[in-house]
Amino acid sequence: MKNRRRPHTLIVGGTHGIGRAVVRQFLSEGHILSVIGRRRPPESRRANARHYSVELTDAARLSAALRECIRRDGPLSNLVFLQRFRGEGDPWQGELDVSLTATRNIIEGLRRHFARGITGAIVIVCSNSSRLVADEQPVGYHAAKAALWQMARWYAVALGPRGIRVNCVTPGTVLKAESREFYLRNKPLQRLYRQITPLGRMGTTEEIAGVIAFLCSPAASFVTGQDIAVDGGLSLLWQESVARKAAGLTHPGSSKSKLKR
Ligand SMILES: NC(=O)c1ccc[n+]([C@@H]2O[C@H](COP(=O)([O-])OP(=O)(O)OC[C@H]3O[C@@H](n4cnc5c(N)ncnc54)[C@H](OP(=O)(O)O)[C@@H]3O)[C@@H](O)[C@H]2O)c1
Repeated sequence: MKNRRRPHTLIVGGTHGIGRAVVRQFLSEGHILSVIGRRRPPESRRANARHYSVELTDAARLSAALRECIRRDGPLSNLVFLQRFRGEGDPWQGELDVSLTATRNIIEGLRRHFARGITGAIVIVCSNSSRLVADEQPVGYHAAKAALWQMARWYAVALGPRGIRVNCVTPGTVLKAESREFYLRNKPLQRLYRQITPLGRMGTTEEIAGVIAFLCSPAASFVTGQDIAVDGGLSLLWQESVARKAAGLTHPGSSKSKLKR
């Protein structure tokens, strides 16, 4: 039976990392969830969450899963993308296929399946690698994230008349359940994030999920085509300022040194 009263939200990449926090956030808000990913996390066994085990590069299986998700739980209210390439093989082709082409194919496959009479929302999780260079990430990650950002703006214009808003969220490095122990045990790394981040700490997956939920809520009903950085202010800083903070150096013209004079 189709559930028409509660919002139906599809979360792509909701089986690991930030995506699992997004699943928990929307479940706590009473959404009916469809979740796509290859693994099956504990959240997928909760009532109101249906898991579709799909390899995103398998176009036929993906398309069948999307049809099934609409047939079982009705038109969508929200569509959230968190997937990135995590696999073997060529990372260039992998990032383009998993991050970019799959996002476009899913939006195209579902754009006519948003519920009428509400503002639908699409949120694409991006990265600062769309405009800066993170040399620990491959070139395909940068190219795919940059393209996703412009794709979000294109769809914001194309889907606006249908009442569908499209926005991006750009997280800083966050404490995920899977990497939490590594960061918490690593005191020098924690000290570094304290020094270089205006808000003085790393973010959490719940803080990213909260902003995604905001963008999917009526409180954001006139927001489209935007990218919200959720990084404690780190991306505001000029690279030299970050380097100086990390090295514990003071610039002669900085406000701290002026106060001392
Ligand atoms: N973590 C950070 O600090 C950070 C910082 C900036 C931006 N971001 C962005 O935030 C998003 C989430 O990051 P994350 O670190 O939480 O990622 P993650 O832990 O690697 O999770 C990626 C998700 O994508 C799914 N996925 C990947 N390849 C797939 C495939 N071929 N078919 C189906 N599903 C696939 C995974 O599911 P399965 O493994 O179950 O298939 C998983 O649910 C990404 O877009 C990332 O670029 C993260």
